[in-house]
Amino acid sequence: MVTPKVVLAYSGGLDTSVAIPWLKESKGFDVVAVTVDVGQPVDLGRVRTKALASGAVGAYVADARREFAEEFLAPALKANALYEGVYPLSTALARPLIGRHLVTVARNEGASHIAHGCTGKGNDQVRFELATASLAPELQVVAPVREWKMTREDEIAYAHDRGIPVDATKKSPYSTDENLWGRSVECGILEDPAIEPPEEAYGWTVSPAAAPDTPVYVRLTFEHGLPVSADGTPMAFHEMVAHLNRLAGAHGVGRIDHLESRVVGIKSREVYECPAATLLIRAHQALEALVLPRDVLDFKRVVEQRYAQLIYDGLWFAPLRSALDGFIEPTQERVSGEVAVKLFKGSATVTGRRSPFALYQHALATYSTGDAFRQEMSEGFIYVWGLPARTWSALGATGAAPPAKVAPPAP
Ligand code: ARG
Repeated sequence: MVTPKVVLAYSGGLDTSVAIPWLKESKGFDVVAVTVDVGQPVDLGRVRTKALASGAVGAYVADARREFAEEFLAPALKANALYEGVYPLSTALARPLIGRHLVTVARNEGASHIAHGCTGKGNDQVRFELATASLAPELQVVAPVREWKMTREDEIAYAHDRGIPVDATKKSPYSTDENLWGRSVECGILEDPAIEPPEEAYGWTVSPAAAPDTPVYVRLTFEHGLPVSADGTPMAFHEMVAHLNRLAGAHGVGRIDHLESRVVGIKSREVYECPAATLLIRAHQALEALVLPRDVLDFKRVVEQRYAQLIYDGLWFAPLRSALDGFIEPTQERVSGEVAVKLFKGSATVTGRRSPFALYQHALATYSTGDAFRQEMSEGFIYVWGLPARTWSALGATGAAPPAKVAPPAP
């Protein structure tokens, strides 16, 4: 009988390292590890070696930073996607990409299962499993951490017994997840939502209080909804994001302390650092305000909220997203121009914007000379616009006011 194969989403951390021998010993699988570089600080070579040392029969590593930025972050930016109005969905956006890599490898390797190291309480299990279900419904899932009921100490002992290297560095009280779009922090003292996150929970941003006393300005050029250069230097989108994380992070921009509603019904306290995402979404919104008509902006906000939620809920590869993209994509045609943002002690403030497609027209807006707005036309406009309100009001609480009173006297 051939040994069944499982493709494991492998980070190189304790959980997924222990999962390799566990999948072999408890489930009889040959394990193929897959590690996807989405911008986390990881040495792919070391991770690959560790997977093999932990007993994997194969270990794939992929640099997917460009793919992540262009296929996942770009649509999220065009949608100004913020879950519950605050979280740029950094962790959530990486999961479907990793899921897609798992599926590719599973097909190459003839694997019957995919595996991940998520617990049963989080969103990420939902995202991995819905992504693979959409792309490869024939694949089955195994989730070791959901099953094995080991404490961290049990895991360390399990690893030790099997000669798996456990990082000697002292254990951080926090659980983190990092990629180009942000850093997520959970656990430890953060589990008390009444207490301010301690400074040590942050890794990408300086404290706003310790940030430079002089502001810095960044000038972003957008084309069709995406940034193409910063301060005149053209950059690929994934490079731009990495650059802005450093720049905005050094000014304390992008810290988010959120009481979050998880898919599985739990409320949890989540801390994020998303300097580039915060800056880019703000700049993108400012440019949209300049070039899009009011009704498009209004309706887009509804779409954006739904878009953010579907990303959060693990529905990236489900039909609603491509349907919403069908609305969002054409709105971005004219979202081109320049935005200046001031970074100062934790804030990112838009200070200027310009576009060849600006709907802002000085001659219409000005209160000085050169005013081209025909103010006398407003009287008729207000008469027609106010007719429903006037009609309603004239009826009063008792109703049946004579129609003659509805309209003001003809001029
Ligand atoms: N709650 C966030 C989300 O659902 C992030 C969770 C990331 N995991 C972590 N260990 N910090 O997208």
